[in-house]
Amino acid sequence: MVTLGQRRTALSLEIKKKLQLSCFFNRPLYLVGVRAMSGHVPPSSLFPGVQSSLSNAKYIENYNFPFCEEVCKYEKLAKIGQGTFGEVFKAREKRDKNKIVALKKVLMENEKEGFPITALREIRILQQLRHENIVNLIEICNSKATQYKSTFYLVFDFCEHDLAGLLSNYYVDFHPGEVKMIMKQLLNGLCFIHGNKIIHRDMKAANVLITKQGVLKLADFGLARAISINKSGQPNRYTNRVVTLWYRPPELLLGERNYGPPVDLWGAGCIMAEMWTRAPIMQGETEQGQLKLIAELCGPITPESWPGVENLDLYRIIDIPKKTRTVKERLRRYVKDQYAVDLLDKLLCLNPAKRIDAHAALDHDYFWTDPMPESLEKTLSQLGQSMFEFLAPRHPGGSQGTVGRRAGTPIPPVGVGSTSAGLVTAAAAASGRQGHHGYHQSDLSVFAEESYMDRVF
Ligand SMILES: Nc1ncnc2c1ncn2[C@@H]1O[C@H](COP(=O)(O)OP(=O)(O)OP(=O)(O)O)[C@@H](O)[C@H]1O
Ligand SMILES: [Mg+2]
Repeated sequence: MVTLGQRRTALSLEIKKKLQLSCFFNRPLYLVGVRAMSGHVPPSSLFPGVQSSLSNAKYIENYNFPFCEEVCKYEKLAKIGQGTFGEVFKAREKRDKNKIVALKKVLMENEKEGFPITALREIRILQQLRHENIVNLIEICNSKATQYKSTFYLVFDFCEHDLAGLLSNYYVDFHPGEVKMIMKQLLNGLCFIHGNKIIHRDMKAANVLITKQGVLKLADFGLARAISINKSGQPNRYTNRVVTLWYRPPELLLGERNYGPPVDLWGAGCIMAEMWTRAPIMQGETEQGQLKLIAELCGPITPESWPGVENLDLYRIIDIPKKTRTVKERLRRYVKDQYAVDLLDKLLCLNPAKRIDAHAALDHDYFWTDPMPESLEKTLSQLGQSMFEFLAPRHPGGSQGTVGRRAGTPIPPVGVGSTSAGLVTAAAAASGRQGHHGYHQSDLSVFAEESYMDRVF
């Protein structure tokens, strides 16, 4: 057991490091083109030669982005991801063959309003967040506009695995100290982004990347946003149509719009449990179904367990079963470490105001008792290839896009046996690829709920 003094010194050093926010203004100029667009200044005022009647799309096509390098400097090696907002490729730089990157293509096809808001949001936020446990955005590249439209790519440092891919592989068996290292890094990343007033809003195993050296990187900031400082004292009115359904916290499912960092901690709890169950623990098919699974695991959602819940828009509308809380009992079947069970219980707390935050979670006894967090390098070095959710074996009978991990999981999720929703169906898994966010890529009206400037800056 580490002494309290040692624990405090280690924590304060880490926190100091975490709060060192790299300044946005130090960023090189290659983003100037994108910055001009992100300001949403009419093209005509930026570039007098451009007629105001040009649509944004036409403007992007015609504009020669002087600070975006051409994507042809990279050579694509393999497709490694298919997200809601575009494809992701492993690629290498032609000049320096040792430089391996990930290229995230920005889907422009359905854009009527120019450069997609999700990509802008991701760029803008990643510019501000430089940390060991956050994926590193290297640059933005575009393809030369020929007779086809120009395409933009976000270029990231390449990470060999994502957590969903690793957990889908039966042979990847993390030791308890390695699980601790994963959770420690994940919470470190969250502590950093929350300390810098950003909420991720899409925590899930596929958005957690791991390098071959075992360094964890939080990725996919397409839904992230800055926390508003509301001077007028009015509650925030963020959209609640965020977070992949299986990782969505109860406050969002009940319609809360004045939420904050605890939404990410709920996701962290779901991911942590998945380290043992090897599959998402609550696999609802609808929002109501998800709430039902939550109530079955986390107990009755009532004003007694969660003061103020009665004021949420959907509380009286949705019929939620009143069940006893069984988080500890059910997770103990998989998780033998009592401290891990206790931390899980605190992360999966229904009341967001009482849910443990990233900083307190890092101070939990789980991280300070034997086995201590241990490097993942040894276990990962035994893997012959990269593990990504996208490359996980597909379910033999599943429809296109079904992820094998979901359907063919080696260890049943916690919900198994209680309802059919515990086991994900091919249809649900397939719809998961389209976005359990609750929207499709072409339906960005969801963001109209947050003002444009507010959500980008
Ligand atoms: N830097 C990277 N290195 C390696 N793989 C990556 C990297 N960035 C993304 N990926 C892979 O691509 C997948 C999709 O990327 P990302 O989550 O950023 O896209 P998305 O379109 O927002 O996805 P979704 O909407 O499905 O969450 C990730 O789950 C991961 O497997
Ligand atoms: Mg993603």
